Amino acid sequence: SVLNMEVEQIKKGDFDHFMKKEIHEQPGSLTTSMRGRLKDGIVGLGGLKDHMRTIRRSRRIIFIGCGTSFHAALAARPIMEELTDIPVTMEIASDMLDRKALIFKEDTAVFVSQSGETADTLLALEYALENGALCLGVTNTVGSTLARKTHCGVHINAGCEIGVASTKAYTCQIVVMVMIALAIGSDKLSTLAKREDIIAGLTKLPEQVHDVLELDGEMKSLAESLIDEQSLLMFGRGNNYATALEGALKVKEVALMHSEGMLAGEMKHGPLALVDEYLPIIVIATRDDTFRLCNVRDNNSHLFYCFFFLVSSCIIFLFIYSKQQSVIQQLHARKGRLIVMCSKGDASLVCPDGRSRVIEVPQVVDCLQPIINIIPLQLLAYHLTVLRGYNVDQPRNLAKSVTTQ
Ligand code: G6P
Repeated sequence: SVLNMEVEQIKKGDFDHFMKKEIHEQPGSLTTSMRGRLKDGIVGLGGLKDHMRTIRRSRRIIFIGCGTSFHAALAARPIMEELTDIPVTMEIASDMLDRKALIFKEDTAVFVSQSGETADTLLALEYALENGALCLGVTNTVGSTLARKTHCGVHINAGCEIGVASTKAYTCQIVVMVMIALAIGSDKLSTLAKREDIIAGLTKLPEQVHDVLELDGEMKSLAESLIDEQSLLMFGRGNNYATALEGALKVKEVALMHSEGMLAGEMKHGPLALVDEYLPIIVIATRDDTFRLCNVRDNNSHLFYCFFFLVSSCIIFLFIYSKQQSVIQQLHARKGRLIVMCSKGDASLVCPDGRSRVIEVPQVVDCLQPIINIIPLQLLAYHLTVLRGYNVDQPRNLAKSVTTQ
């Protein structure tokens, strides 16, 4: 009805679509997710504190979810392992049920779901409860079945998400899981410096997300150049493997274009055969593991440590960076049509010949980089959809919350 349409327009405010509104809301939603939870360098998560001892003693952490929520968990996996020293395994809820995957009472099972009502995730929860695991929920929906049936949990507080394609819930889920990792690992002296870096990074994050949103126009022009393509590949690794999967999911679900996210390390084991001068490929090659370098450089009273960290960071940097460099070189050698996402100032380093298109983003602490990197890809998927004339907020055949098996 006309009234309903008007109410919709009021809810969208200045934006044409909910997806665009929700992408641009992220500086605010991330701030809300963190509100009251980071005080004086300490992470406080009320919903977990009574179970913290059990979590710390668990033999394994299992992340369980579907779709975008699974990708958010995958993005948080490296930091969860690094800060907790507990192995983390990943389960897509439906596959866990199909395999009747082994799960024990010494496990902590972390269920991630924006709606808290996804049937597969809830069935996996029942299965984990029956097997005696400690069940933790990460959801956006207060009072949802997931929130009620888990032993403990954390709300992501992203605010209501209406677009079927999840955007702001994804980045808030990652921030919340990083905070969970910080809380579990808060008793370890060996990771103190890293935890301080992350907390400092979290404080600056909303502002940096705001800066990345400035790429909107650039992503629109990139979308214009891709409008008639059949397919779009995305390569990522490490912390940004999830970014490649999630970027590709956004493109396929809303722009109705075939898109695949792939692990860059697996490129030579198959996907390389697809490379030619026509197929567009996004390579995520932002810097990793160099954050200490920036921090130590500020502290000029410790010249010796400064020098030491400078040298060791350069070695780590060259090692990790050269891996992505070599991926780019191999793709260039096959005349690949590349779009490279890199850290600000690295354009000439990643593409010395200036042949590829470059997306420059701010560099942040490694575990938060996926939050920055997904934003241009969300914008790209959005613009591709609008330009191709499809329904952004309600893509065909998809539902916001899938409550059937
Ligand atoms: C549906 C939605 C996806 C979402 C997935 C998981 O497929 O279309 O956007 O990621 O469900 O939803 P959940 O509410 O469990 O995060």
